[in-house]
Amino acid sequence: MKKEVVMMVGPTAVPERVLDAMHRSSISHRSPEYTEIHSRVRESLKKVFGTKNEVYILTSSGTGAMEAAIQNCFSFGDEVVVPVTGTFSAQFAAMAEAYQLKVKKVVFELGEAADVDKVMEEVTPETKGVFVIHNESSTGVFNDLEAFGKALKDTDTLLISDSVSGAAGLEMKMDQWNIDVLLSSSQKALMVPTGLSFISLNEKAWERTKTSNIPKYYFDLNKADEFHKINQTPNTPAVYNVFAVDEALKIIMEEGLENVYNRHEENTKLIIDGVRKLGYDIFPKDDSRASRTLTAVYAPGKAKKIVEELAKRGVIVNTGLPPIADDVFRVGTMGYVYKEDVEAFLEALKEIKL
Ligand SMILES: Cc1ncc(COP(=O)(O)O)c(C=O)c1O
Repeated sequence: MKKEVVMMVGPTAVPERVLDAMHRSSISHRSPEYTEIHSRVRESLKKVFGTKNEVYILTSSGTGAMEAAIQNCFSFGDEVVVPVTGTFSAQFAAMAEAYQLKVKKVVFELGEAADVDKVMEEVTPETKGVFVIHNESSTGVFNDLEAFGKALKDTDTLLISDSVSGAAGLEMKMDQWNIDVLLSSSQKALMVPTGLSFISLNEKAWERTKTSNIPKYYFDLNKADEFHKINQTPNTPAVYNVFAVDEALKIIMEEGLENVYNRHEENTKLIIDGVRKLGYDIFPKDDSRASRTLTAVYAPGKAKKIVEELAKRGVIVNTGLPPIADDVFRVGTMGYVYKEDVEAFLEALKEIKL
């Protein structure tokens, strides 16, 4: 059977080397071998995040790291501002509300990136945090974190960023861009099965953990820090996923982060040009803010059928998410996707006449 071309928005394709790295005997998460792997992973994750701060390994999907950010850095009733650009920013806002934060949403039209000035109009000296999704996986738009970091730099407001579908595919400079809390997860550009998430806090965010009054236990990051110092985690981590991320990070570092970003950019350009030649357009309103880890293709009323037809031809992509599920399909360039995959996708799309 012909090999499937997996271009999903996550969980993404897992390279054979990463699968092989999990094909081994189990080890204790308190053993010297585990601590050696943990230490290697944490150093590589710092490079992916563009930070000198520690990056903690949590056993959860990305949503767990979003919860960790709220539980550790905020208190009941804190005012936060959330630019809503799609499903995942709406979820972050809903989560903040569930934790009884006072959420001011700034809603943008789907397909638009967050306008930093418009968001800043809602930020006051009372605002404790601005929650920005780096790469909105539902609409295929990425936000300008650097501009948010600049705007919030000399304030007491924390910039919290979810780069679940960005990190390791899109350039990330946590320290240089003044991001206070950055989080991501394993099953996107990091090419690892779902099960790990990653979070990093700078000094300003750690300071805030001292006054946070939201209950926390599993995701208590001060406790995580105690164990991280000895290259361990407080509870049993998903050890096989740690084997996997260790190998995936080796692959990424061998290719070089810059080359990885360029590959994502080049593949995205090929997809955008290719779908336009076939008579489609992309959903983002501005090409310069179109994600490089996934392309949301606009196919009003036909998106679900196209996804089915592509699957029949061995090309696996994702449907859109509500409320644009029927009008958009999403093609991942995250992680283990190369030019030949993009060409196979475009060939298959060309055959589909609806
Ligand atoms: C941008 C973004 N944030 C958060 C999440 C939620 O992550 P998870 O499904 O790993 O919990 C996703 C999942 O696709 C995402 O794309």
